[in-house]
Amino acid sequence: MKLKTRLYITFACIAALPIVSFSIAFIIIGKIMIYLRQTNGVEDVTRLMPRPLFASLWITIFVIMLAIAVVLTRWIGRGVFSPINELQVGMKQIADGNFDYVLDETDADGEMAELFRDYEDMRLKLKENADEKVENESKNRELITNISHDLKTPITAIKGYVEGIMDGVADSPEKMDKYIKTIYNKANDMDKLINELTIYSRIDANRIPYTFLRLNVSDYFNDCIEEVGIELESKNIELNYMNLVPSDVRIIADPEQLKRVINNIISNSVKYIDKDKEKSVIDFRILDEADSIRVEIEDNGRGIPAKDITNIFDRFFRSDSSRNSARGGSGIGLSIVKKIVEDHGGYIWATSKEGEGTCMHFVLRKYEEATDNEQDINS
Ligand SMILES: Nc1ncnc2c1ncn2[C@@H]1O[C@H](COP(=O)(O)OP(=O)(O)OP(=O)(O)O)[C@@H](O)[C@H]1O
Ligand SMILES: [Mg+2]
Repeated sequence: MKLKTRLYITFACIAALPIVSFSIAFIIIGKIMIYLRQTNGVEDVTRLMPRPLFASLWITIFVIMLAIAVVLTRWIGRGVFSPINELQVGMKQIADGNFDYVLDETDADGEMAELFRDYEDMRLKLKENADEKVENESKNRELITNISHDLKTPITAIKGYVEGIMDGVADSPEKMDKYIKTIYNKANDMDKLINELTIYSRIDANRIPYTFLRLNVSDYFNDCIEEVGIELESKNIELNYMNLVPSDVRIIADPEQLKRVINNIISNSVKYIDKDKEKSVIDFRILDEADSIRVEIEDNGRGIPAKDITNIFDRFFRSDSSRNSARGGSGIGLSIVKKIVEDHGGYIWATSKEGEGTCMHFVLRKYEEATDNEQDINS
């Protein structure tokens, strides 16, 4: 039953109640009078309560109650039904996908005004989500365009070198060796691009299958440094490693994903080196903080402009100079890094000075036997 109908019935009952009560009272009074006439010999009982007076009293009460009922119904109707109707229109607009329909708060008061505010909060959130979805879709399209563009470069190079070999251009063992090495490097570039895209799409859907383990900080980072050290050496970049964490400190982390964090940060340091500097250097430090460890990876590359430093962890963000340079990239490396660090319960930030270098800092909680266990984090 509609609220409006219920309200009408309620007021009709309220109006009818005194009328019915009065009618019953008059019937009782009538009966008493008849009784008095019979017992006391009062001949004309209607003299005690004349009939016209009785009728007009009854009509007056009826009219007053009816008027009150009508006025109250209209008053509540204006306070409840108009805002509800307006809310209904708003909801319909939202259901049709129009998130710009704003309700005028001055049209409602009391609980209805609160309802309008809730509608407005909901509308803004839905609008934000819808805008974000549209933006992500266009960025995803942009990403696919970028990756296909980036993939074309190594493919063209590989084709060129293979054709060179087929045509006999690589006529000496040295030349052949150089061609094969280049083909291998280009194939590696492609592999990385494809991997990044796959990882990114998995991360985006929050589907990284983490395998958290207890890791000894020193053992883990020593191995890591050994691995990246070889690569940096081949690129003629100096790597300095300092570990100030006691040898028994452990963390709970996924070794593969943590490696991804380190590789992404180091690959940025390599990518954004400052060629004008005499020597490129990367300092890798692990510091001991009360109940956490802090990893710092600092380079002496070209640095990040102050205006960009807060945006570098955003998906698809690349500073102007990176976008305009020949260095490929999609601006997703650090967004992956941030997501992984945060999924480990840690946090990450960057400090940088243009022309001097960049330092990435991330903090991870230490594993404490008494309070933590892997199950908690894995669940
Ligand atoms: N060590 C660094 N030195 C200078 N600039 C950096 C450094 N690390 C990150 N940046 C800046 O932050 C931006 C975002 O980095 P991010 O790793 O997310 O993307 P990318 O390296 O441009 O592309 P991708 O990692 O997807 O290949 C870079 O484009 C660059 O402008
Ligand atoms: Mg990067």
